[in-house]
Amino acid sequence: MSSEKRGMSRGLTSYGDDGFSLFLRKAFIKAMGYTDDALGRPIIGIVNTFSGYNACHRNVPDLVEAVKRGAMLQGALPIEFPTISLHESFAHPTSMYLRNLMAIDTEEMIRAQPMDAVVLIGGCDKTVPAQLMGAASANVPAIQLVTGAMLTGSHRGERVGACTDCRRFWGRYRAEEIDDQEIAEVNDQLVPTAGTCSVMGTASTMALVTEALGMMLPGGACPPAVSAARQRHAEETGAAAVRIAADRLTPDKIMTPKAFENALRVLLAIGGSTNGLVHLTAMAGRMGIEVDLEAVDRLGADTPVLVDLKPSGSYYMEDLHKAGGLVMILRELKHLLNLDCLTVSGRTLGEEIEAAPKPWPQNVVRTAKDPIYAEGGIAVLRGNLCPGGAIIKQSAANPKLMQHEGRAVVFADAADLAARIDSDDLEVTADDILVLQNIGPKGHPGMPEAGYLPIPRKLARQGVKDIVRISDGRMSGTAAGTIVLHVTPESADGGPLALVRTGDRIRLDVAGRRLDMLVDEAEIERRRASLPPRPLRPEDDRGYRKLLMDTVTQADKGVDFDFLVPPVKAKTPLAKG
Ligand code: FES
Ligand code: MG
Repeated sequence: MSSEKRGMSRGLTSYGDDGFSLFLRKAFIKAMGYTDDALGRPIIGIVNTFSGYNACHRNVPDLVEAVKRGAMLQGALPIEFPTISLHESFAHPTSMYLRNLMAIDTEEMIRAQPMDAVVLIGGCDKTVPAQLMGAASANVPAIQLVTGAMLTGSHRGERVGACTDCRRFWGRYRAEEIDDQEIAEVNDQLVPTAGTCSVMGTASTMALVTEALGMMLPGGACPPAVSAARQRHAEETGAAAVRIAADRLTPDKIMTPKAFENALRVLLAIGGSTNGLVHLTAMAGRMGIEVDLEAVDRLGADTPVLVDLKPSGSYYMEDLHKAGGLVMILRELKHLLNLDCLTVSGRTLGEEIEAAPKPWPQNVVRTAKDPIYAEGGIAVLRGNLCPGGAIIKQSAANPKLMQHEGRAVVFADAADLAARIDSDDLEVTADDILVLQNIGPKGHPGMPEAGYLPIPRKLARQGVKDIVRISDGRMSGTAAGTIVLHVTPESADGGPLALVRTGDRIRLDVAGRRLDMLVDEAEIERRRASLPPRPLRPEDDRGYRKLLMDTVTQADKGVDFDFLVPPVKAKTPLAKG
């Protein structure tokens, strides 16, 4: 069977004659300067996602060298190859729009080229889930390496980092608390080095949950991008890739329902990005594992938030690294984790926790007895406004607004919001609830992070810092506020969110896990019957965008393409919570 072949003989291009296919392949690869000795070795593919647009991946060339060194020290031949690279700020209309494209690219290039194992080098928000979705589907032995977080900067003596502080300073600028000169000065300080955002945004979240999932070597989530520790971890990753190739340790042996439960547990305990839930759902989906939102909510009941990082807390990723990294969190959660899950190290999660350095006094990771927040960071809501569910990052919300009834102020889409949010004529008070429609997976293809609606300028000037906001979109992991996201089904798919009108009463009850519009059923049905069909946009009808519009799933299914997801054979989490 060809799938049993190793090295250069693996996955031959079809010329009808295997001997000739290998002969041709060798002729071409020798032009890269390889000897027959090199070509007789196991091959470690290395996904190189360097791009001149992607500062989060600026250190990838150094990491590739270190991975190669590790692989060669173990007697293998490393070969790097490119896939697309996604940076949050350079992925119009939004990086999430392109995540599935990167997943397809990764999957098909792993399949197309001969490799016995693959090292996935990613980091910026959507890249790690895209790579793991692709690797899961290709099911070739795979190991994740992240680029690591950036260091923090300093603005007029104050420590700053992307991107919670980006938002904070921009909010102050909007409120006219700081001037043009100061906002330009801080712009120079927010991203002071290569690497991913320095707070508990999506990149840090995905790094930590991937280590917890077992797809990364222990200790790999936290070393800063520019540190020697990051380089050494990369070398170790190259060496580990050779071992998983020899052992045929494929993703399906690691990405199991129990391992996803560990990852979800860690997501809740770190106060992780809400995007992490969508990505884990998509990654699990590729394995035929369905993430059960109700069970995730139950998991939260006995999972405290332990990590004091912005935006829920006050520290940065480099501090978590100095505090000992993920294992400090795993140790506190040990009684809740499935310790028998296998990791890419070849050992179990429990064995890795035992083998890690002993803890020392520090302030970044709290104990389970003295948490930042008593229950999990993310709560799942249901109600007549979100029959398929919605979520709120309660650890980053305002406790005073968690039980709140208010008047809806509705914006029909992102353009309507942009046109009116700063108008002095906008009728809005701090007790109102802002509703943004049509920013879901289809309504605004890619489901942008526009769920973090700005505080209307007239309220910002009055010193209002938070207000309840509801949408079918996403929010950056670096943002905070009383913000309900991922309302499912989305407004563009006939969800009730499309039926809300300015003046309606809405009730948010986080403790009761409810989100309802207080409009009687007959009126809701009348509005549904008269809802005009979604206008057809010409750009929806061709290319990648058409593929997305035709096949993208809702937030509760991971916003993957339906044809990439196998039938469900298991659910996670399994724990009672
Ligand atoms: Fe890349 Fe934040 S922009 S991680
Ligand atoms: Mg982000």
